[in-house]
Amino acid sequence: MSLFDETALFHGQQRQQLCLGAFVLRGFAFADAPALCEAVNRVTVQAPFRYMVTPGGFCMSVAMTNCGNYGWVSDSAGYRYDSVDPHTGQPWPAMPGIFIDLAQNAAAAAGFEKFVPDVCLINRYDPGTRLSMHQDKDEHDREAPIVSISLGIPAVFLWGGLQRQDKHIRIPLFHGDVVIWGGPARFRYHGVLPIKEECHTLTGKHRINLTFRKVEK
Ligand code: SIN
Ligand code: FE2
Repeated sequence: MSLFDETALFHGQQRQQLCLGAFVLRGFAFADAPALCEAVNRVTVQAPFRYMVTPGGFCMSVAMTNCGNYGWVSDSAGYRYDSVDPHTGQPWPAMPGIFIDLAQNAAAAAGFEKFVPDVCLINRYDPGTRLSMHQDKDEHDREAPIVSISLGIPAVFLWGGLQRQDKHIRIPLFHGDVVIWGGPARFRYHGVLPIKEECHTLTGKHRINLTFRKVEK
């Protein structure tokens, strides 16, 4: 069955099922996108985007920051969630109310009720940057889904299986699209192909991705 066959209208919105537990909600965040971008700008005044270093000593090409009770950080000691921003020595900025509402509503539309994220990892992709295939597995809460919001220039999202070598499909993601994966899909491999050069009125030459997670059990 092709992706197209699985597309269904859910409360008037286009909802694509990728597999059991994973959905794309087309345009779900479109109307709120200007407010989301403003909130990202406010967060990054307090916690600027930075290029983290992998445990292997490589500089990541995607710039990152966080808001919420914790933030995802990477350095020579490894990957972890930390309540303090190592860049400023301060707690991460609070999660804006609009972030929490949208993440919760998107999760509910995918069948995950009562999702209360405690972290939003904010990724900023420049043209040419990519995210290699990985699983999101640093969160202590293994039940809560991941909610991912795309803003700005488009990307091709790679959706794989539970093993790194499993085949993957390519899913184009546009400004305002939301992807949710949880339950049996929670530990599926995923990544992002190199971003093509484009310009968006709200984000300029960037793609911004917000991923909402629940770290604390
Ligand atoms: C991620 O896997 O953390 C981000 C995915 C994306 O940028 O779409
Ligand atoms: Fe991820």
